[in-house]
Amino acid sequence: MTTALANKRKSADSLNGPVPSKLAHVVLRSPRFKEMVDWYKFVLAASASYENDGLAFLTYDEEHHRIAVMNMPHLAGRTTGTAGMDHMAFSYDSLADLVAHYRRLKAAGIMPFWAINHGPTTSLYYRDPDENQLEFQVENFETLAESNAFFSSAEFAQNPIGTEYDIEDIGRRLAAGESEADLKRRPSIGPRGLEGIPLR
Ligand SMILES: [Fe+2]
Repeated sequence: MTTALANKRKSADSLNGPVPSKLAHVVLRSPRFKEMVDWYKFVLAASASYENDGLAFLTYDEEHHRIAVMNMPHLAGRTTGTAGMDHMAFSYDSLADLVAHYRRLKAAGIMPFWAINHGPTTSLYYRDPDENQLEFQVENFETLAESNAFFSSAEFAQNPIGTEYDIEDIGRRLAAGESEADLKRRPSIGPRGLEGIPLR
């Protein structure tokens, strides 16, 4: 049984009802529609399954759309200090893919505002033209059991946020032959809380 299937079975068995088979998509309202659609097409290497002047449905895999954008020019921009979604996260298959993704975006002038090894994942955070936040990540462990063990560890209890890292350094060390497992291991920095994380 694959890990994904095992996880689904476990969820279904523990509840008296159906569970979602997947998180299907996110829809964004935007006052800068074209800029947003172009940004998401580039950043996610996505294409439109359907688009017109008011809507765009973007896909990069087997789902017909993962991101949709609605053209709403009258909308106000995001303000700081409000409740709501913090970020959406996209997983890559390997640290090498995450580094390649970083370099492709960097070449286009798109840079992360935060590079953090959460422990379970190595992550890069970006903001889209409307300042919605995205996380691009790679799993640090091979199995869910290992991830869960980290979540249950004393190390995670004292620092559930993570340890910042230098993606350029990671890229160099990967090219020099260091293993992904070694490079993804989170350095311990002692206790850390929510304070100081660069979120708007
Ligand atoms: Fe996240």
